Amino acid sequence: MYKKILVPLDGSDRSNKALAHTVELASKLNAKITLMHVVPSLPPYVNTAVDRLGQAQQSIIEELMRNGKEMLQQYASSISDKGIEVDSFTVMGQPADEIIEKAKREDYDLIVIGSRGLGEIKGYLMGSVSNRVSRHAPCPVLIIR
Ligand SMILES: Nc1ncnc2c1ncn2[C@@H]1O[C@H](COP(=O)(O)OP(=O)(O)OP(=O)(O)O)[C@@H](O)[C@H]1O
Ligand SMILES: [Mg+2]
Repeated sequence: MYKKILVPLDGSDRSNKALAHTVELASKLNAKITLMHVVPSLPPYVNTAVDRLGQAQQSIIEELMRNGKEMLQQYASSISDKGIEVDSFTVMGQPADEIIEKAKREDYDLIVIGSRGLGEIKGYLMGSVSNRVSRHAPCPVLIIR
């Protein structure tokens, strides 16, 4: 049934739970999984500076990208004994848009996502990323709470 599963991860407990769920599902279905992290774009006003601020921005971006890649690497090695085909993808942008675009572009047949993430404001059932992804994804979305 599902052969290609996309798991967006922000490092939150809820996204860890989404990964654990995906691993079980993928081993039963013999599916491939892709771990994905989106480094949120920095506010646009920073982009106008070409001097010190520009350099600071560049190093923040590099550090965030490195951090994201390391995080996915750790996730990948934590499930390396499960016999599942896993790859990782880190990109910068608007998280929901990047997730939706990747799923469209590469024909994923399921997205497994946490209901909430690092934001965790009490009182809301869903975060803005899970909300947008579930409304605009090209494939079924499994929301883990
Ligand atoms: N930057 C990201 N990269 C990859 N996946 C993400 C990212 N942000 C969120 N997600 C995924 O979306 C799920 C829901 O997180 P979301 O950001 O919607 O909730 P939140 O952080 O509680 O709320 P908000 O961000 O709106 O304040 C996470 O569990 C994770 O699976
Ligand atoms: Mg969030």
